Order: sequence, then structure tokens, then C-alpha cells
Amino acid sequence: MAARTLGVGILGCGNISGIYLRNMKLFAGLELRACASRTLASAQRAAEPLGLPAVTVAELLAREDIDIVVNLTPPNDHAALTQAALEAGKHVYSEKPLTVSVADAQRLISLAGSNGLALGCAPDTFLGGGHQLCRQIIDSGRIGRVLGGTAMVLSHGMEHWHPDPEFFFKPGGGPVLDLGPYYLTALVNLLGPVARVQAHGQIGLAERHVTAPGPRHGQRIKVETLTHVTALLDFAAGPQLTLMASWDIWKNGHPPIELYGTEGSLRVPDPNWFGGTPEVSDRDGPWQAQESHAMPFGANNYRGAHWPAERPDQANYRALGIADLAASVRAGTPHRSSAHLALHVLEVMDAILQACATAAPITLAPTLGRPAPLGAAEAAALLA
Ligand SMILES: NC(=O)c1ccc[n+]([C@@H]2O[C@H](COP(=O)([O-])OP(=O)(O)OC[C@H]3O[C@@H](n4cnc5c(N)ncnc54)[C@H](O)[C@@H]3O)[C@@H](O)[C@H]2O)c1
Repeated sequence: MAARTLGVGILGCGNISGIYLRNMKLFAGLELRACASRTLASAQRAAEPLGLPAVTVAELLAREDIDIVVNLTPPNDHAALTQAALEAGKHVYSEKPLTVSVADAQRLISLAGSNGLALGCAPDTFLGGGHQLCRQIIDSGRIGRVLGGTAMVLSHGMEHWHPDPEFFFKPGGGPVLDLGPYYLTALVNLLGPVARVQAHGQIGLAERHVTAPGPRHGQRIKVETLTHVTALLDFAAGPQLTLMASWDIWKNGHPPIELYGTEGSLRVPDPNWFGGTPEVSDRDGPWQAQESHAMPFGANNYRGAHWPAERPDQANYRALGIADLAASVRAGTPHRSSAHLALHVLEVMDAILQACATAAPITLAPTLGRPAPLGAAEAAALLA
């Protein structure tokens, strides 16, 4: 039987909206119905090539043919717009982070619950082939009990590629809140929740110089959030990991995530993408590449517009989390890229920033478990 089609409205037509607009057609029972943004002109630029209507935010929320609002606005706008969409009776899938304040995220989760609506949040990259393969490796016991590891979110920032990078360097931005969700969500998928956090942080450069093409080119941005943070994460199940999140690093040799178990080690591919090649060692044996391209949502399907020739293609199935949310709405079952998972990740990030400010450890009381693995049959059912 064909899946009941749910209408999707895009709210926020900036940088990331293109991949959502492109990918929506990959998934069963999702249909783009309209786009809204801060200005009608930016909504039109996104909507018209696809033959979709560009509407105001109020019109989008009032449309009866829209079941799911996809909130792709900047982080500081997430709370108010997600709240408005939930109050309008829409399921919501938000870009990360769910909100920039834990209290707002908790409030939205109870609002969604009391209105009988689903609330989901990016990242959904952990549902991709690379991360599901890592989950299989961990769950098989191949590397034994995970004792520790590293998660390294290291680059020299955003102002050389993002046309409007101001928000990255203000409260609500920074590498912990901006890129932390990918790494922490991937880790919670593999290891479960975090129970205790210690951290130190600093602002590496007082000002950033925008070199990306676009309206901000040549401007300077005053940095008002930590851009170099080192944290120690104690997971409830026992693993202790070092997370470094920095936009002040020119060059480094760290893989994104390495996990050390009693029987071997695992290198987890970049959690910004869905595929990649995990590497495993059995005890001190050589690294063995584990191909994820044949896994569901593991095949490369994406090239950035300005990538140099030597940069490889990637697997980019953003919107997979919306398909999973839609399937759960139809079946009345829990979904994986859930607001509860996003809230825990936000609590961890908030604790990291608080620990930096106070130099004191912070204890969390996580109640969630790991999201269910995405099996091959369920993954296939999500596809159009
Ligand atoms: N750019 C990326 O590569 C990327 C990747 C993954 C996730 N994200 C996340 O996606 C979200 C958006 O990022 P972006 O890079 O696309 O930002 P952006 O600034 O390029 O786009 C944001 C869009 O939201 C619109 N907007 C802002 N305030 C609004 C309001 N009050 N009402 C309606 N529309 C409003 C803007 O007009 C703009 O079109 C953020 O949460 C970010 O963390 C971005």
C-alpha cells in the first residue's frame, strides 16, 4: 500500500535549504508544497525553480496542505518559529541545534507532546550507512567494551565559505553548538548518553575576516563566543572521551572520531556526512577499511558546488530524518532523529559551555537510550 503523503513546507530558504529541496523527492510519502523565508524574494529564489509557491511565514503555517514544517532558519530563530509551527498544528523537523537554550527545547517538547505532534531535529547523518555500519561493529562486540576515544571538530572556521557567517561567531554559534551536534549525536548513537562533562575554552581570534564571496565579503566580525573548546565526556555506560571543538586550527592529522575498546579500535567517518569508510583494528592488527557504500544511505551522491577536483564526493541524504519522522507519524511509533535526542545533545553542549565558564564539572541525569538502529528493510521502506 502506498504511504500516505504528508505535505512539507520549507521555512528558511538559505544555504542549507538546497539539499533539502533536492533530496525530498528521494523519500516515500513526502511532498514539498511551499517555501517561506524572511523575505518573499529569498523564498521565491528557492521555490520557483521547483514550481512551488513562495509564501509568507504566516501563510505557510496557515496552509492546510502542509503537515510538516521544516525549520531551516538560523539557530537563534529556531525556538520562536518551531513554537509557532507547533501552535499551528504542524509536525516540525528543525535544523540543529533544536534551540540554543535547554529550557526552550524542553518547552517545545512538551508543547509538541500536548498537541500530539512529532518534533524532530537534525542531524540525521547518524542514520546513514557509515554510522549504521559503525553501530553494527560496536554492537557485534568486535572492539569489545569501549573505554575511551577522541572526537575532533577542527577547522579554521566558516568565514571563508559561508556568505553570511555572522551568526557562527555570536552566542548561539561557535563550534560546540554548530558542529557539536553531528559529533555528539553520532557518539550517542554508538555509546548512549553522556552523564558528566568537564571543559575549558577560549576565543582564539577576537575578530574574523569574511573572505567568502557574497554581500559580507571583506567585512570583519567581532567574535563573541568560544571558538576553541576541549571537553572530557563521561558516558553513562562507561566510556570517557576527549572532544575538541575549534575554529582556530589551520591543520591537524586527527580522524573525526576514534574509539578505543578492550578488543580493538574503530575510526568513525565524518559525522557531517552519511557514508564514509569506517576502519577497525582487531587488537593491534592493521586498520581494516569497512566499506559503507553498499549500506542504505551510504552511497556517494553529492558534490559541493565549489569543491576542488581532488575532494571526493560524499553521501548526503539530509531529509532522511524527515522521512523517518513521517513514517513514525503514520505508524504511531517513535522516530530516531527525535527532539529528545536533540535535547540531550543540547544539554551536553550547554554543560560544555557552562563548564568552560565555571571550570567546574557538570553532572547530567540522562533518561534516554540509544536510538533504534535503522535496518535495511525499514531503510528501503523510506525510499520513494
Ligand atoms: N549551511 C550549512 O552548511 C548547514 C549545514 C547543516 C546545518 N545547518 C543549519 O541550518 C540552519 C540554517 O543555516 P544556513 O546556513 O542555511 O543559514 P542561512 O543564513 O544561509 O539561511 C537561513 C534562512 O532563514 C531565513 N530566516 C531567518 N530568520 C527568519 C525568520 N524569522 N523567518 C523566516 N525566515 C527566516 C533567512 O532569510 C535565510 O533564508 C542553521 O540551524 C544551521 O545550523 C547549516
